[in-house]
Amino acid sequence: MARFELAGEATGLANGRADMLDFRPIASVARGTICQLLNASYEGWPDRDEHVENWRAADQESFNNPDTVGACAVFTFLGNEVIGFVSWDPREFPTAIIGHNCVEPSLRGRGVGKAQLRNLLRILGNRSFREAIVTTGLGEFFEPARRMYLACGFQAVRTVSASGDPMTIDYRLDLQRVCCDEVDEHGS
Ligand SMILES: CC(C)(COP(=O)(O)OP(=O)(O)OC[C@H]1O[C@@H](n2cnc3c(N)ncnc32)[C@H](O)[C@@H]1OP(=O)(O)O)[C@@H](O)C(=O)NCCC(=O)NCCS
Repeated sequence: MARFELAGEATGLANGRADMLDFRPIASVARGTICQLLNASYEGWPDRDEHVENWRAADQESFNNPDTVGACAVFTFLGNEVIGFVSWDPREFPTAIIGHNCVEPSLRGRGVGKAQLRNLLRILGNRSFREAIVTTGLGEFFEPARRMYLACGFQAVRTVSASGDPMTIDYRLDLQRVCCDEVDEHGS
């Protein structure tokens, strides 16, 4: 099992549990987990309310189809607590489109986002994907996401504007440059 030490101070969650992360499949979490994590993670985002229904739908689709859509999500655990997840869309193979990913707000800024994304990049590399792409926002809310992608080796390829204002930014990563060891796909 690949594990990553959590950086920084001991967390309020620790409480006798190891301050370590591990990564588990959808069967390890309850229906509703995706929706809950996204709802909590986008607190403070001005557009949040417009997306709540999409998150509910994403949750249902994943849990209704655990061998397809649901198999493209990996959940991050700290002890017995699920604290984040990453997901991807494999339908453009050998390009993987990184989808929803988030970390529980009280545990941010300690390397969890980068650790769970790097674990996913190893999974994708091991499955012969050649590149990963992702789109995120250009607003202040998405600064941690932009920094996370850059820190994990993604490069900005273009910004997309709406009504003349830059709104989103696309990143790309060549997966052939990502080390494929220490992969943890199913927590075993
Ligand atoms: C993006 C997200 C997953 C990052 O999780 P995290 O556990 O805080 O990430 P990390 O601790 O690994 O830090 C990632 C980078 O963000 C930076 N960062 C973290 N919190 C920050 C903050 N509040 N302000 C500015 N930068 C911040 C870190 O310093 C790091 O950058 P660095 O490597 O250049 O120092 C998390 O902020 C989140 O869930 N955001 C809301 C959902 C979202 O935006 N998802 C991405 C959709 S495309």
